Amino acid sequence: MKAKKTPRWLSAARERDSSAGQDKPDWLSRALARAGALPLAQAEAAIADGRVKMNGRVVTKPFAPLPERARVQLDGKTIDVTPRTRVLMFHKPAGIVCAGHDQEKQGTVFEALQRLLSAELASYSWHGVGRLDRDTTGLYLFTNDERFVAFATSPATHLPKRYLAQVAATATDAQLEPLRRGITLDDGPARPAKALLRERGLVELTLTEGRNHQVKRMLAHVKLPVKNLHREAVGELTLDIDIAQWRELAAAEINEKLGFVPRGG
Ligand code: URA
Repeated sequence: MKAKKTPRWLSAARERDSSAGQDKPDWLSRALARAGALPLAQAEAAIADGRVKMNGRVVTKPFAPLPERARVQLDGKTIDVTPRTRVLMFHKPAGIVCAGHDQEKQGTVFEALQRLLSAELASYSWHGVGRLDRDTTGLYLFTNDERFVAFATSPATHLPKRYLAQVAATATDAQLEPLRRGITLDDGPARPAKALLRERGLVELTLTEGRNHQVKRMLAHVKLPVKNLHREAVGELTLDIDIAQWRELAAAEINEKLGFVPRGG
């Protein structure tokens, strides 16, 4: 069997060393939240209330820097603040938003996730990685590590995002050609994308950047308004769970499929 070639973006991401910056001091409340001891707001309150000790002394400033190998206790219990990167895959249903609050009261991805998690995982402060529109379904990632958010959302990473868009049945392959060459949107040039007509009325579009409503705007540009949008892959990671379900990624998946070196073990 032919060995699978490593995609160019993945080799480049590995060479860039996504572990850079791991040794910068963290601050206490964020470290507690990332470690899953308490959600961020509660961690800040616990520190201000004098419930947290660092190397045996009470610290009341939530933003106190956390020295390397500091011993942290919450209510007398030692907390392992060795930061470990955790990433969750979620199959986003239509109707909910990727934001902290939904003005239309249909709900957010954070609320949907929180309802599904065990008590252990629910105590983490989860960050959403980028955004999908309310009506978009598919692969959405959460993490406790802000560095992973920065890595995955930076256009410099060229992390591919693969979408399936339902468009008019009359769509032709020739209509997609400008997207392969690169078009200019109202907020600037869009990188050339991989575009193919997978079947009648179904376009597969792979982008290496993630601007607002980018797929819809690119397809509208070639007169193919999107009727339905689904994200089926990010990097080499393919959605493999049912709608509204989640699963945790193994450290090897984070590394090998997303090109990010996870912290801790
Ligand atoms: N592009 C869009 O237009 N919408 C999404 O939700 C994601 C990418």
